[in-house]
Amino acid sequence: ESLHKELEKLRKTAKPELQKIVHNEFDGFERLFDRFLHETGPSVDWEKIKLLPPDAVKPYTELPTPENKLAIQSLLNKLVVLKLNGGLGTSMGCTGPKSLISVRNELTFLDLTVQQIEMLNKVYDTDVPLVLMNSFNTDEDTDKILRKYAQVKVKIYTFNQSRYPRINRESLLPIAKTVSGTDHEAYYPPGHGDVYESFSNSGLLSQFLEQGKEFVFVSNIDNLGAQVDLNILNFLACPEKGTPPEFVMEVTDKTRADVKGGTLVLYEGKLRLLEIAQVPKDRVDEFKSVSKFKIFNTNNLWIRLKAIHRILEDGSLHMEIIVNPKTLDNGVNVIQLETAVGAAIKSFDGAIGINVPRHRFLPVKTTSDLLIIMSNLYSLKAGALEMNPKRSFPSVPLVKLGTSFKKVKEFLARFASIPDMLDLDHLTVSGDVTFGKGVTLKGTVIIIANHGDRIDIPTGAILENKIVSGNLRI
Ligand code: UTP
Repeated sequence: ESLHKELEKLRKTAKPELQKIVHNEFDGFERLFDRFLHETGPSVDWEKIKLLPPDAVKPYTELPTPENKLAIQSLLNKLVVLKLNGGLGTSMGCTGPKSLISVRNELTFLDLTVQQIEMLNKVYDTDVPLVLMNSFNTDEDTDKILRKYAQVKVKIYTFNQSRYPRINRESLLPIAKTVSGTDHEAYYPPGHGDVYESFSNSGLLSQFLEQGKEFVFVSNIDNLGAQVDLNILNFLACPEKGTPPEFVMEVTDKTRADVKGGTLVLYEGKLRLLEIAQVPKDRVDEFKSVSKFKIFNTNNLWIRLKAIHRILEDGSLHMEIIVNPKTLDNGVNVIQLETAVGAAIKSFDGAIGINVPRHRFLPVKTTSDLLIIMSNLYSLKAGALEMNPKRSFPSVPLVKLGTSFKKVKEFLARFASIPDMLDLDHLTVSGDVTFGKGVTLKGTVIIIANHGDRIDIPTGAILENKIVSGNLRI
């Protein structure tokens, strides 16, 4: 009640032209908040979790390829590509949108995405549109950059996700005083699960349906492996048997490096995304086990537009709430309620997983990922990264750069050029370390500069199965 009153007060501070948007947003927020108050207890009952039946996840290799160019064209004419672009590059020390970080040859995530779609449209003579879901954190900078694509033959649409008020952890009331754009700390983008409502509220969902579009491919803009895949699109449109699925989640085999990723399980007869945050403490080890839960969600999702429309209309869209506690700069403890896009899988009919090759999951979350992407392990072809065929085995090396490499700027300053990593298995770097030009790293290389020490790897050095530590060289 008092929350509702506070929100009403806030809403009245909005400019007349923004009233409707704010009304929709606050409405969405109130529904989420109401669920947060009333859905007590754990969101999953561990005993009810069932392992996946064999037909719940299809191997990618079993998907038939579309027959010919005409068939591909007709599929692509029904497709919309949507990239989740609400996030900032804070974890890599950047203040702006993550998608504007240069990842390779001075090209940003956004540049590479546009190039990929441009190429697709060129090869198949189609007009697949690109849609960006921005947040109030990313829209201004993104829009500025989008001007440079004015001449590019890709239709780009943008819409903003919701802006929800952060809530004081004690009073459970908004900390905002107005809805004005300057009160940034008082608001947050409520996770990528917001895409369904925001896409619909923006009017774009109806617009695409009217244009005869049928499918949307949703993925993280920081996943460089998330290109349009024609076999999956073909499967979504015409599976060999049964009714076409409304929702396809690309999953991939879990390795010990990605034990934290959400996995698919069978729950009350439906596929469900199980995230680590939902797992009871005494079951976390079981959840992380690579042998029990073998796959994880790549967040590459293929969804029927009509189904999104339906579940929004009949109110059956349901995603578990993620409660994210934060402490603001001024010391105030707040909570923000979020949802994840993949959690909606249970609201769709005939949802299915497809076990895709690892290269469809190439996220850049840290500068360690960035080093791999920038190196000669990959080459760039029309916006898509391809593993260098000269690498003798197909897995990427395990790279762990220490905190002095955390920010992109620091990271770049520490490499005179990106080392040759073609034969690298494992690299650990810690402390004040710099790399000269043309360094080669092979096998397992560990470089540790102790506090107060500095290690400069000289130009042209070849390090093969080496531990370099302080002045000691083994
Ligand atoms: P996240 O930061 O949520 O990453 O962004 P993740 O892969 O789910 O989880 P971590 O990094 O392991 O914690 C995934 C994608 O979703 C977008 C981001 O821009 C990114 O492309 N995103 C995230 C939004 O669009 N809106 C949000 O509110 C949150």
